[in-house]
Amino acid sequence: MRLLITGGAGCLGANIVDHFLPRTGIQILVLDNFATGYRESLPSDAHNLEIVEGSVSDQKLVDGIFDRFKPTHVIHSAAAYKDPDDWEEDINTNVLGSLYVARAAERTGTKRLVNFQTSLTFGRPAVTPIPNDAPSKPFTSYGVSKTAGEQIMLASNLNVVSLRLSNITGPRLAIGPIPTFYTRLKAGKGCFCSDTNRDFMDMSDFIEFLDLSLDENAPQGVFNVGTGESKSIKDVFDQAVKYLGITLDEPVPIVPAGEDDVQTVVLDASETEKNFNWKAKVSFEDTIRKMYEWYDEFGVTAIFSHVKKPDVDGA
Ligand SMILES: NC(=O)c1ccc[n+]([C@@H]2O[C@H](COP(=O)([O-])OP(=O)(O)OC[C@H]3O[C@@H](n4cnc5c(N)ncnc54)[C@H](O)[C@@H]3O)[C@@H](O)[C@H]2O)c1
Repeated sequence: MRLLITGGAGCLGANIVDHFLPRTGIQILVLDNFATGYRESLPSDAHNLEIVEGSVSDQKLVDGIFDRFKPTHVIHSAAAYKDPDDWEEDINTNVLGSLYVARAAERTGTKRLVNFQTSLTFGRPAVTPIPNDAPSKPFTSYGVSKTAGEQIMLASNLNVVSLRLSNITGPRLAIGPIPTFYTRLKAGKGCFCSDTNRDFMDMSDFIEFLDLSLDENAPQGVFNVGTGESKSIKDVFDQAVKYLGITLDEPVPIVPAGEDDVQTVVLDASETEKNFNWKAKVSFEDTIRKMYEWYDEFGVTAIFSHVKKPDVDGA
């Protein structure tokens, strides 16, 4: 397999590299501009890993990589979201970047492309857990641009699957309430919980699913990838307090969701489970505990958010 991973230095990308690199017969190329990813997250001395610094919105670069590397499989993980007011950057990366990747993949005969999509594509969903066929109604620059990018992928002639992801939790996670509570509570600082609910899935469940989704004969189209379990940010806070063995003097404040935030994002993955014969296995408690054990060992690298304040609630 010749695997191109766009955004491969990011949180998900680096975990995917870790998973596939030891396989025999695999060559991996990562294209990343290090906007929110880190070169240090990737091994520098692996004979079967090439790292190219650059942007998916650089069409010449993207074409050159496809012509030279000729990937059989592509995981399109690159995404811009850092500044919710920077629509231009989000459009450049998430729309134009997706277009250039799709065109080059079509032209050079990529056998399977896996696209990662944010659940913010559903906007403020009318039904939760969100059904697989719920309409896209995004309203942030990230959600709107990622949805346009996904539509471009789906409108191509590629063998493509687009995964609408829940909050994937595992090594290098540096966004959202899980690292925020860990960092603040350890430093003896106060916290607040936004009054929102999310669907937290362990990295090991995600990687297991990704393996299945890369299969050329696996179903195409869009699929929700989550646990279907609704957990509040307060539930995460309680796990953090329990893990760190902290006694609170007073209850943590619960604040209303920010204007550009969504109250509940929980995915109904039953279609996915049926189509891929797969189901997430790791419990919420174990998912959070594993994350905190990882922070104990490696620390929290950085905290970015997809939404404006309050920033304890990225998806
Ligand atoms: N982690 C999750 O729980 C989650 C949930 C929903 C969707 N997603 C999607 O999964 C993908 C990966 O997310 P992540 O959590 O690993 O985020 P991340 O920020 O860690 O990774 C994104 C990577 O893309 C790179 N990048 C940004 N702009 C680029 C450009 N123009 N060209 C090349 N590389 C560029 C960044 O430097 C980074 O390494 C994204 O598409 C995101 O929308 C992730």
